Amino acid sequence: MGEEFRRLRVDQLLSRFGYCSRREAPKWVREGRVTANGVALESTDRRVDPRAVQVDGAAIEGPCGLLVLFHKPAGVVCSRDEREGTSVYDLLPPRWSARNPPITTVGRLDRETTGLLLITDVGEWVHRWTSPRHHVVKTYEATLDGPVKEEWKAVFASGELRLDGEDKPCLPAQLTVVSEREGRLDVVEGRYHQVRRMFAAVGAGVTRLHRSRFGPYELGDLPEGQWRFLEPPCFG
Ligand code: URA
Repeated sequence: MGEEFRRLRVDQLLSRFGYCSRREAPKWVREGRVTANGVALESTDRRVDPRAVQVDGAAIEGPCGLLVLFHKPAGVVCSRDEREGTSVYDLLPPRWSARNPPITTVGRLDRETTGLLLITDVGEWVHRWTSPRHHVVKTYEATLDGPVKEEWKAVFASGELRLDGEDKPCLPAQLTVVSEREGRLDVVEGRYHQVRRMFAAVGAGVTRLHRSRFGPYELGDLPEGQWRFLEPPCFG
């Protein structure tokens, strides 16, 4: 897990975890805001283990890498481009975006898609969970504008379904019929608008899309707009 377990200089630590710039760090230390095991740190040169440090009396969130499960509401985007409107980053603590590296989403959900979104500041985890090579299963609950058809199961599972404008077929995906107009789809890729385009390929429109699972993580009953911290993953 590398860097995060290293002892960091206090000024590096305050900037790494989004509290203030290295230049502002001496003031934070002078004001006694930074402690290790309850004892105020007196110098920004001192190297400390982030896991032992408190700032303003609170432990550092994700001292070994931040990992958060967020319930994305409809109407917000995963992009940081302000022209696109309210972003998931506007709904999360600003300090997480001030970290260096800042938080990012693990893959993206469309503006109108709700559900499970992982947030982290560890690039290696993003890569691991978004690469199709690792076959991370994502589960989507889709409501359609017409009946879900049993015959689509074989089409989606075939590994031969081509999305409009793409040559490479989709990897096999598993469809479960939940009710007349609701289907659950397990996919291992994360192509642009993939689920909506897969249903479009069989002639159906998606009127509501919700992600309930991402790899080992389930959304459960976490309310919209809320998050919870996850333990750092252990990749075997
Ligand atoms: N597939 C889609 O079409 N949209 C999403 O947001 C996620 C997967």
